[in-house]
Amino acid sequence: MERPKRDDELEVDVDALAFGGLGVSRHDGFVIFSTDTVPGDRVRVRIRKSRRRFAEADLVEVLTPSPDRITPPCAYVPACGGCRLQHVEYAVTLRAKQQHIIDHLERIGHLEGIDVRTVDPAVAQFGYRNKMEYSAAPGPDGELRLGFHRRGRWDEVVNVDPCLLATAQGNAARDIVRAWAVAHDVAPYDQRAQVGMLRHVVVREGIATGELLVTVVTAPGADDVIEHLVAPMREGLGGLVGLLHAVNDGVAEVTQGLPTRCLWGRDYFYEEVLGVRLALSAPSFFQTNTQMTGHLYERVAEAAGLDGTQVVYDLFCGVGSIGITIARHARQVIGVEIVPEAAADAERNARENGVSAYRVLTGDVGRVVKEQLAHLPKADVAIIDPPRGGLSGRAIRRVLDLAPEVLVYVSCHPATFADNAARFVNAGYVLEYVQPVDMFPNTPHVEAVARFTRDEAAVTRAREAKEDADRAKAAPPA
Ligand SMILES: C[S@@+](CC[C@H](N)C(=O)[O-])C[C@H]1O[C@@H](n2cnc3c(N)ncnc32)[C@H](O)[C@@H]1O
Repeated sequence: MERPKRDDELEVDVDALAFGGLGVSRHDGFVIFSTDTVPGDRVRVRIRKSRRRFAEADLVEVLTPSPDRITPPCAYVPACGGCRLQHVEYAVTLRAKQQHIIDHLERIGHLEGIDVRTVDPAVAQFGYRNKMEYSAAPGPDGELRLGFHRRGRWDEVVNVDPCLLATAQGNAARDIVRAWAVAHDVAPYDQRAQVGMLRHVVVREGIATGELLVTVVTAPGADDVIEHLVAPMREGLGGLVGLLHAVNDGVAEVTQGLPTRCLWGRDYFYEEVLGVRLALSAPSFFQTNTQMTGHLYERVAEAAGLDGTQVVYDLFCGVGSIGITIARHARQVIGVEIVPEAAADAERNARENGVSAYRVLTGDVGRVVKEQLAHLPKADVAIIDPPRGGLSGRAIRRVLDLAPEVLVYVSCHPATFADNAARFVNAGYVLEYVQPVDMFPNTPHVEAVARFTRDEAAVTRAREAKEDADRAKAAPPA
């Protein structure tokens, strides 16, 4: 087996889609991951990086297209780093996402034979995103580019107009900011030179309400010129309820945690899910696909198996959306959320929706639950919806302290889910099934709802085994 070298060109048959959207082929015992390829393609690829057991390659030419290869409707594929799967038949992407969850459970979690169900397809494959985060950067002649990072590049932006994942209002908001910047000579921020003014535009939209909250992020010094943006935004965006200005004077490309002022309107907007009206502040997380969020939460309720008698913990609760939508089927809901603005939104949302048996603990799940455990009611069900990084060891221990009969894990990353799932199984929980839901068409991301139940005998065995191991560790050597 000869290891391919950088810039070697090879002809390969693609037989699978790897997690992340790359095509997988084998060449002389070597695994090749290639961009923009489809299972069933015969392609010529050029090696970009060669490792001991596998290589990464770029597509040079499609020799024989797969029957599942389609023409991407977006003009910015493949330059734009946003979508990775627009060139693949939708049904194939769904099967690949299901397989990625199975593979991660087997390889990372060592959990075989789990009932991972077929992926619930999205209602719409385009125009589904309620949040867009556009970056600004100069083009070769210093001209403004406002869009998304070029694939694999931190310093280059593809000027996007329109983005097919955004809504009409989401696209219009970006275009108004672009026109304002050009008219007033507001230079794009150059990350290499660290000069310039316009850095990001964050557009958030209530799909069910039509409300729009826009945050423009600039370097310091734009306080006067940005006032000229208020009128065109109000005139051009019928749904605008708030325009915010955030100032980033650091090198990190962030849009959160910055000093922010409200230029016009309010600093939150409303969205509706399953008949519940939710206030969302700019720093609060919310699922990016509103249409599928109701469906996701129905899957969560199904997995929780509520009958009106249970105490439910909604850990990583964000603006309280899961807990509030299921509250009428529970005796009491307790949310835990680390971002103070989101926790305040959750309290407000419970109040405004007339949900009284609801309270929020503000802070880190790993810390707050430990501090309050003695005063908290016994958990019947715990719903866990962590960020991509999954649960820390400390957070897992706190969930085990709560000892719920049913644990519903909402995952947005199969690798961290597989790791966390194995820990719950090793602690005595049974992973009954995993139901994936496609919240992110055209991208490799996959969301899933998993149901675990507590097996008391297995929990006791796991605890005793751990106590034995701890005793053996503490015992002096013979
Ligand atoms: C994936 S979001 C889920 C939010 C909500 N369940 C929903 O469906 O919109 C994860 C949430 O966990 C919060 N979070 C992150 N780390 C946390 C921690 N250590 N303790 C508590 N909340 C945390 C984030 O602020 C975010 O609101």
